[in-house]
Amino acid sequence: ADARLVDRYGRVGRDLRVSVTDRCNLRCTYCMPAEGLPWLAKPEMLTDDELVRLIGIFVDLGVRQVRFTGGEPLLRRSLTDVVRRVAALEPRPQMALTSNGIGLDRLAAPLAEAGLDRVNVSLDTVDRDTFKQLTLRDRLADVEAGLKAAADAGLTPVKVNSVAMRGVNEHRVAELLQWCLDRGYELRFIEQMPLDAQHAWTRDEMITVDELHERLAERFTLTPLPDASRGSAPAERFLVDGGPATVGIIASVTRPFCGACDRVRLTADGQVRNCLFARGEGDLRALLRGGADDETIAAAITGEMARKRAGHGIDDESFVQPDRPMSAIGG
Ligand code: GTP
Ligand code: 5AD
Ligand code: SF4
Repeated sequence: ADARLVDRYGRVGRDLRVSVTDRCNLRCTYCMPAEGLPWLAKPEMLTDDELVRLIGIFVDLGVRQVRFTGGEPLLRRSLTDVVRRVAALEPRPQMALTSNGIGLDRLAAPLAEAGLDRVNVSLDTVDRDTFKQLTLRDRLADVEAGLKAAADAGLTPVKVNSVAMRGVNEHRVAELLQWCLDRGYELRFIEQMPLDAQHAWTRDEMITVDELHERLAERFTLTPLPDASRGSAPAERFLVDGGPATVGIIASVTRPFCGACDRVRLTADGQVRNCLFARGEGDLRALLRGGADDETIAAAITGEMARKRAGHGIDDESFVQPDRPMSAIGG
């Protein structure tokens, strides 16, 4: 009865990904230009009250997990308050965070106390110079401290997301895996998707899962976990050297998982998107600020969900990259 976010392929929206800001304190070259992007102005962004009200409506529609993303979500100063208020919703959704880790050293404990369940931290390299080259900021130590604080605060399992890039970190994937194994973090490698602000992505430049497997096989034996345990998760998981530690591979491009997708997204300016690669958005902010009641907003959300396409279509002739980059949609 409460699973009302159903699309025409029968997929059910259970996982709401909320971008709480489009800003970021890193400048990963595969994501945005060095000078940054034209950020949303404050009045364009949802207030905390608006955000919490919308999340409440999504929960009424059947959402059971809320993931806060950005930009860098920790740049929203009120994030801890938002988490605390979402934790008070009925039924209380699971809450996760996808962060670059900067600021987590200070915020992990308060966020856990407010009700956050777990975190995924983006970290493409543990080599200080490479980190600086890739993010244009010398902040590897902050990320390491953030990861440690997250584990200490019980925001577990702590996952590390790493985008594999040719000539940048690709030759050091085994080293990164060992680094994560030593610290008890669950590493997932990610195939790069065409969602960069510069529109520079090419399929040839992308490191595929097959290449990753070859690289990792030089040092580790990976055994696939049964498919049945995957559900709607984007990562395929493997036991490392017999386990119990695992490594994941998120092969969005070469092995799409759209058929099992349970996601729906809310941007920092209050637009609902049914997919990372959605062609359109639903303007919930306009409804909110126009005085709409919950049922009207819920109808706009279910209407947007009904338009969800079967898949991302990256391989189609007609593929066009979305106007908004990943940093403004939410990862
Ligand atoms: P878990 O619940 O911990 O498995 O989180 P997650 O993997 O769903 O979320 P996370 O934010 O850590 O995302 C990791 C990566 O998965 C992102 O960087 C994307 O590359 C990819 N990803 C996340 N959401 C989507 C999606 O809706 N579609 C596709 N194709 N890829 C996605
Ligand atoms: N393709 C895949 N993942 C990406 N990320 C950023 N841009 C892309 C892209 N084009 C990753 C970040 C972070 C997560 C939120 O998304 O590295 O791990
Ligand atoms: Fe879902 Fe779209 Fe991501 Fe595919 S690309 S998994 S349909 S959000």
